[in-house]
Amino acid sequence: MCSIIGFSGNEIAAPIIVKGLKRMEYRGYDSVGVATESENHIELKKGIGKVTEVNSKFQLDTLPGKIGIGHTRWATHGKVTDLNAHPHPSNSGKIAIVHNGIIENFEELKKQLEDDGYNFKSETDSEIIANLLQKNYESTKNVKDTIMKTVSEIKGHYAFVAMFENGQLAAARFHEPLIIGVGQENIFLSSDVLGFIEYTDNAIYMKSGNFVILENKEFEILDFNGEKVKHEITKVSKEFGDAYKGDYAHFTLKEIYEQPELIFKAGERTVEGIEEAVKYIKNAKNIYITGSGTSYNSALIAKQILSKYVKIKSEPIIASELQFAPETIEEDSVLIAISQSGESADVLEAVRIAKKSNCKIISIVNLLTSSLTRKGDVVLGMNCGPEIGVAATKSFTAQLLVLYKIVQKLNQNITINFEEFSKSISEILENPVKIQEIAKELKEVSDVYILGRGINYPIAIESALKLKELTYIHAEGIPGGELKHGPLALMDTDVFVIVINPKDSTYTDTLTSAREIKARGAKIIGVSDIESDVYDYWIKIPKINEILYPISEIIPIQLLTYYSALEKDTDPDYPRNLAKSVTVK
Ligand code: G6P
Repeated sequence: MCSIIGFSGNEIAAPIIVKGLKRMEYRGYDSVGVATESENHIELKKGIGKVTEVNSKFQLDTLPGKIGIGHTRWATHGKVTDLNAHPHPSNSGKIAIVHNGIIENFEELKKQLEDDGYNFKSETDSEIIANLLQKNYESTKNVKDTIMKTVSEIKGHYAFVAMFENGQLAAARFHEPLIIGVGQENIFLSSDVLGFIEYTDNAIYMKSGNFVILENKEFEILDFNGEKVKHEITKVSKEFGDAYKGDYAHFTLKEIYEQPELIFKAGERTVEGIEEAVKYIKNAKNIYITGSGTSYNSALIAKQILSKYVKIKSEPIIASELQFAPETIEEDSVLIAISQSGESADVLEAVRIAKKSNCKIISIVNLLTSSLTRKGDVVLGMNCGPEIGVAATKSFTAQLLVLYKIVQKLNQNITINFEEFSKSISEILENPVKIQEIAKELKEVSDVYILGRGINYPIAIESALKLKELTYIHAEGIPGGELKHGPLALMDTDVFVIVINPKDSTYTDTLTSAREIKARGAKIIGVSDIESDVYDYWIKIPKINEILYPISEIIPIQLLTYYSALEKDTDPDYPRNLAKSVTVK
């Protein structure tokens, strides 16, 4: 999603802003821009591409002055063009803004502003904010009243930073993240702590419906009615400082390789939380589990393990779907909300709906400073450290581990030897040569189907998601038994099929499916602890406690999709059109 940053301090702003934008790259974007103020004049440079590319083309970091704003854009309104990139100046050029979110009534406001003589250079909803601020500033003559009037006129979910020609900065937050970084000499306004972590670990998480005015390092936080608001400074975890690739070629690869270690850490700080979560689960009328993307796939596995190992029924719900069927949620139930970022708008909306029905919320979240953390009655931390690669890898494993720990608490007979499990995961990762060879085969393939039954079916879906995200190959997860009800028609010599086939109760049926597919000429990649002549390629997984199969299956597939991305020359860390944390609905 778009990242915004504002800076006011004792140092030249532009290079600091460019560095901050680079650190927030993982959030996903398509264009970049910076504007600074110097001697009562605003200068601005922007263009499409990566931060490094746009910076070397336009030298964003040479803009003058100690006050500035910056932005990486993830297109929502208007194509990916230089003109649509932020910052957007107002018509007078005396105000410039950066914005994350969506202005829902932008067409109406644009029409009014055009009637007043304003013209628009971009197709974005964001440019409305710049001109509306100018209009309101010209009538109110002060920043506070200008912001109050502007936020009362715009509808939607947003965070924006506005820079005025006199060097004042103002930023408003409505349901999109905005954090103030408070350094000794420098103040930051950013969507993400990574925007300023190099300079300060003092953060103020602004509340939705608040705005801040910043002038010469002095700032004041107010609500949308103009009343002063007290703030609290939070020490941001230093672990964010670890967001470096180290010796790895990509964050995604580093994060895949961190998994054997996080087996011990996931849920580690949440022992009491798990006990509390279990109490809620035991007393709940119904249990719903929600998430988006990979986190939803964890919800699918949660349903299966809760039913199989503790005989508790639950209903997984795709977060973005709940708003269309809010009546699904019965009063006095529990919603388990799973999200790595804790900022996915769809998940937050699902939580809002569940709370309306008096449900308790169990949040399983990685970013403990996120909005979802603040909304949970119980918060269980994934503790897997910052995940920068846009496609979720280690956070999926961490989510499953937290869920296993809940199930273990509910059924003391389930024993998991985490030490041994960690070792067997390391073995998968130790020798990727075979996986690299299979990745070469996938280079020219346009369709991959992934088959799994029972608890392995969500892994088939998650594998398909990883293939789509990292390699742009069309991929589909199929429940094994459904093959003969349609997908078999697609099987021919151009197709690759991955069968998820551990030696559990699904083994024999899935092997039969593999033979049926092979008879139609498709190539089979078997992910199994047992070799078979039906597999053209065998990805060996360790023999383990069957509850753990999902993790040992997905890890080699994460590696396979990573190496396939390299073969296809796509960027595994930043897939096109995707964002790490989707903060718009
Ligand atoms: C985005 C990412 C996905 C991720 C999903 C949910 O769509 O591209 O990789 O699975 O968001 O993210 P969350 O932070 O809520 O787990």
